[in-house]
Amino acid sequence: MPIDLNAHLPGVSRVALGCMHFGARQAGSEAAEVAAADAAVRAALDAGINLFDHADIYVRGRAESIFGAIIKNQPALRDRMYVQTKCGLVAEALGGQGDYRYDLSRQHIMAAVDASLARLQTGWIDLLLLHRPDPLMQRDEVAEAFTKLRDAGKVRHFGVSNMRAAQLRWLQKALGQPLVANQMEMSLLSRHWLEQDVCFNHAQGAEVLEWSDTLHHCMDAGVQLQAWGPLAQGRLSGASQADAATRAASEMVAAIADELGVPREAVVLGWLMHHPAGIQPVIGSADPQRIRACAAALDVKLTREHWYALYTAARGRRLP
Ligand SMILES: NC(=O)c1ccc[n+]([C@@H]2O[C@H](COP(=O)([O-])OP(=O)(O)OC[C@H]3O[C@@H](n4cnc5c(N)ncnc54)[C@H](OP(=O)(O)O)[C@@H]3O)[C@@H](O)[C@H]2O)c1
Repeated sequence: MPIDLNAHLPGVSRVALGCMHFGARQAGSEAAEVAAADAAVRAALDAGINLFDHADIYVRGRAESIFGAIIKNQPALRDRMYVQTKCGLVAEALGGQGDYRYDLSRQHIMAAVDASLARLQTGWIDLLLLHRPDPLMQRDEVAEAFTKLRDAGKVRHFGVSNMRAAQLRWLQKALGQPLVANQMEMSLLSRHWLEQDVCFNHAQGAEVLEWSDTLHHCMDAGVQLQAWGPLAQGRLSGASQADAATRAASEMVAAIADELGVPREAVVLGWLMHHPAGIQPVIGSADPQRIRACAAALDVKLTREHWYALYTAARGRRLP
């Protein structure tokens, strides 16, 4: 059985809308930015997408604030959506502009959630993710923070992002509640999660990033894999492509989209969603039309032949 966040968030959609670009494009006035984000949120809800992904770091808090303005203007929307956010990345000029450090101390997690709640103008977060592993993280501190946040009604469920199986197992041992999600980069162009298994015991495996047993751990332990960057920033559905394999894959996407009579985005996401892990794409579009095109993935039924045709085209070489 594929993993399904519905066990924790009843009625949650299979596709989520990532809000990382809200407020990032300087649409002009604050009101114009809120209006643009509002159109994206409306398009998502109308198309059946009800999970919204944030992080405190996105546009240095601005993405959450813009979303908060939408909720403040239309409080009834809050009950139609699930909101998740992330903490643990701290933007600071360490040695140069744009550097980060990590902080998953109890104090930081607690303070970050309070700040996100204020910006999002909501009383609770449905799902809190630890954004990236902090080498100084102490699991007992994380456990204490999670319990306090849950008991205070501030956060309902917890998960992680960019963590491998060993980190999940280690952390989970100290926690009083399950880690329900792990958000990772996954797409037809970012295939390490898949290649590692396929290329095991083969020379091609040398070029694959280490996922260890993360995919199978998540499938086995009921951890929802969420895919960030699932559209590969549009490189398979209209944006410019850098290399021959990407061009071949995008031609295959277009052919299958024509055959099925669906938008190209639906094929790109449908490929991820066809995998038995029940992957939940977190699309990063702020364009209402593209969001509707992505939502069409909910109804796409790819065959095994489609799936492998896309996979092998994107690989650009024969399977081992
Ligand atoms: N956990 C993490 O570490 C992590 C890291 C990065 C992102 N995220 C989350 O994942 C979400 C998605 O990430 P993402 O935005 O990198 O991935 P994405 O969904 O693969 O790409 C979305 C971006 O590609 C553009 N795009 C899509 N199709 C296009 C086309 N045909 N032509 C031109 N542009 C096109 C979109 O522009 P339009 O707005 O014009 O559609 C948008 O800027 C984020 O919003 C965030 O919530 C998480």
